[in-house]
Amino acid sequence: MGTGPALGAGFFFIFTSMKHLVAPSLLAADFTRLAEEVELVNESQADWLHLDVMDGHFVPNLTFGMLIIQAVRKLSTKPLDVHLMIREPEKYIEQYRDAGADVITVHYEACPHLHRVIQQIKESGAIAGVALNPHTPVSALEDILEEVGLILLMSVNPGFGGQKFIYNTLLKIQRLRNHLAVRNLSARIEVDGGIGLHNAEKILQAGADVLVAGSAIFKADDPKDTIRRFKEIGGEIMKFV
Ligand code: DX5
Ligand code: ZN
Repeated sequence: MGTGPALGAGFFFIFTSMKHLVAPSLLAADFTRLAEEVELVNESQADWLHLDVMDGHFVPNLTFGMLIIQAVRKLSTKPLDVHLMIREPEKYIEQYRDAGADVITVHYEACPHLHRVIQQIKESGAIAGVALNPHTPVSALEDILEEVGLILLMSVNPGFGGQKFIYNTLLKIQRLRNHLAVRNLSARIEVDGGIGLHNAEKILQAGADVLVAGSAIFKADDPKDTIRRFKEIGGEIMKFV
């Protein structure tokens, strides 16, 4: 941790350096051994546990809902980072919060009344996140950035684990990091999909501060050690406060 002045947009910011967060995505875990998989995350250096909720409508796949999250809440010692890939998420925000979500992220593309949903998440007491699909420009968030605690940039098309990282995401991360700095905002930038030890450094250098990884962690021979290696990559992130 260090602080110091930095010049930006014609005036001085105070910046502080922070280590990035790692959020293993349970989607790639072995669900026949769910308790053991959650326990390995508990014992690791992971910061959050990422949970992918899919409804078969917003994305062409179905996963789990609040019942599983409630069960995971009982097993996990880490904050639960719930990524809702569902239509009409406003119908279920309080239920996901009650199930144990600490961060609730909804998709920009699924919310015609995004501002209202973000307020609803904040009122529930969770950190409010908004996710962007690969084709949605970060400029779409211009009028909502002040309201959110986290922006999730999808680096694959949502719906499945194990896909290839879309490299255009690096430009989106840089653009968003720049917007946040110029406007003196401290929302976190989370990146999700196709992340492995081979590309994590580039993603962090572009300005990400939360890395989600499913297959790269749970399909590894030693998931705990892989999490440790994810944590060790790169330097510290400079955040404006
Ligand atoms: C995809 C999900 C991701 C997924 C990432 O729609 O949002 O969180 O679990 O999986 P990997 O790391 O395997 O690409
Ligand atoms: Zn996700």
